[in-house]
Amino acid sequence: MCGIVGYIGEKQAQPVLLNCLGRLEYRGYDSCGIAVLDSSVEVYKDAVRVKALEKAAPKLRGKAGIGHTRWATHGEPSKKNAHPHCGCRGEIAVVHNGVINNYQSLREQLASEGHKLVSDTDTEVIPHLIEKYYDGDLEKAVARALRDIEGSYAIIVLREGEPKLVAARKDTPLVIGIGDRENFIASDVPAVLDYTSRVIYLEDGDIAVVTADSIKVTGEGVRVEREEQKVMWSVEDAQKGGYEHFMLKEIHEQPKVIRDTLGQYISATEPAADLAVVGGDGLEDLLLLACGTSYHAALIGKYLIEELARVPVRVEIASEFNYNGRIAARSRAIVITQSGETADALRVIKRLKEEGCQVITITNVVGSTASRIANQVVYTHAGPEISVAATKTFIAQLIALYWLALPYSQIDISRLDNLMTGLRQLPTKVEQVLDSEAEIAECAGYLAGFDNVFFIGRGINFPVALEGAWKLKEISYIHAEGCAAGELKHGPLALLGKDTPAVAIVARDNNYESMLTNIKEVKARRSPVLAIAEEGDESIGELADWVISVPPVDSIFSPVVNTVALQLLAYYTAKQRGCPIDFPRNLAKSVTVE
Ligand code: AGP
Repeated sequence: MCGIVGYIGEKQAQPVLLNCLGRLEYRGYDSCGIAVLDSSVEVYKDAVRVKALEKAAPKLRGKAGIGHTRWATHGEPSKKNAHPHCGCRGEIAVVHNGVINNYQSLREQLASEGHKLVSDTDTEVIPHLIEKYYDGDLEKAVARALRDIEGSYAIIVLREGEPKLVAARKDTPLVIGIGDRENFIASDVPAVLDYTSRVIYLEDGDIAVVTADSIKVTGEGVRVEREEQKVMWSVEDAQKGGYEHFMLKEIHEQPKVIRDTLGQYISATEPAADLAVVGGDGLEDLLLLACGTSYHAALIGKYLIEELARVPVRVEIASEFNYNGRIAARSRAIVITQSGETADALRVIKRLKEEGCQVITITNVVGSTASRIANQVVYTHAGPEISVAATKTFIAQLIALYWLALPYSQIDISRLDNLMTGLRQLPTKVEQVLDSEAEIAECAGYLAGFDNVFFIGRGINFPVALEGAWKLKEISYIHAEGCAAGELKHGPLALLGKDTPAVAIVARDNNYESMLTNIKEVKARRSPVLAIAEEGDESIGELADWVISVPPVDSIFSPVVNTVALQLLAYYTAKQRGCPIDFPRNLAKSVTVE
């Protein structure tokens, strides 16, 4: 998810473009650039934030231009991979948000036709294709080029000698901001709200030709009218997409994140990573290591890989392992870190490699240190996560772990087929959980009145209990503890009573009966019980004080739907308590110190 902008009007474009880009940095901030049209197209870009580019950029004269702030997906953050990208002759500049799935084959074809591509990005094929098809009509050349492209895109094109912007979208948002003798194009409305609140939302397949005083939109080559709308939001609200907090916005992005992450893996030609757990001399040791929420994903990964691939897995807290861990000679490690910059995770990668261990990292940030120092990298495609509390990156990590484990599964083909179907249905299942937001908010209103809460679960949902407690702790400041339900009677049960409720995660799996027993133990101590259970589960309804129902899924996928329900529970509990949800005290989004 990047941010793209375009401006054409009577003002000097450069300051307008940089201001609009600054408003879109929540969409990506690892590099940025602008291109301005005067007698020729001048480009200035670098792997810096917008403010730094503003300081460093020379004055580029011109009243039309395009700009980009990046969230790398293909090609790590660098000057050459930053946008705008140009064709061979530098006359055409393009900014792009989206992913081109067939870029490899297009690159080879263009190179065989003499085009010299200089970056590692998927985007760079676009200006070269437009250049290839250009015969005096930029709009036609763009339309022809897009016919060669498979994937998602929002693009804005600028060409020397043509005082206009040509924009197009498919599966990626794009809006036009209407001004007085000036017009704006952007990935999202926050970019234009300093100048206008009159916008047009482009639709998939639209191509727009925009000048300072005209906007022409065609769909499939036919002129179409797109309704002008008035935006009533403030810039900040718009950055949150109308949600009150980035955390709630990111929770609601999860169906798309699952589709995007799965989409990337399914379209990839290679397996996500080589676990080497079968064949050859076999693996002695498969380690999963991480910190915080990523550690909870690693614990779920252990259940997945052990259940599917029948290979024993060790899970270690990175900060602990750094000083105390032991590894076997023939071992392989997966280090999970969404930011890719967590000091404890980086240190464990270095140590494991020094000891001859092959290290795979699962990270959400292209070009992050972890992605550069690990032997193999598996990217999640959750887009930038602004809220300190990890939500969508956690769910994307689970999808990565499902995808890593499935190729090694020792299960029969019909079960494998069922699991593949279940995986593809997950976005819809998560949408169903999001639909019960109001009921979950009501339960949260009840939970907000307590200062101590236990979360209990069994099997693959024990780590989900840990994550549920973690989220509540982080943002509501309630003392919450995640506990394996079977462990309660060995100690924590002493803390339970009418002032300490328990949140029980009850999946329909081989732990079901034992969970009911544990809930009865808790109820016997008069603790209120809030259960997360499958729709239609009458027995749990008789036992628990509150029930949050989640849609039925294969138990191996239950951590996904259960966690989304727990994220909403934590969010609304913190909201009820008036906490600064996106930026809780004492915490940082990326912990770069040990
Ligand atoms: C989770 O909500 C927290 N932000 C924190 O526990 C986080 O998971 C931990 O710091 C690890 O971060 P990483 O995934 O970026 O390495």
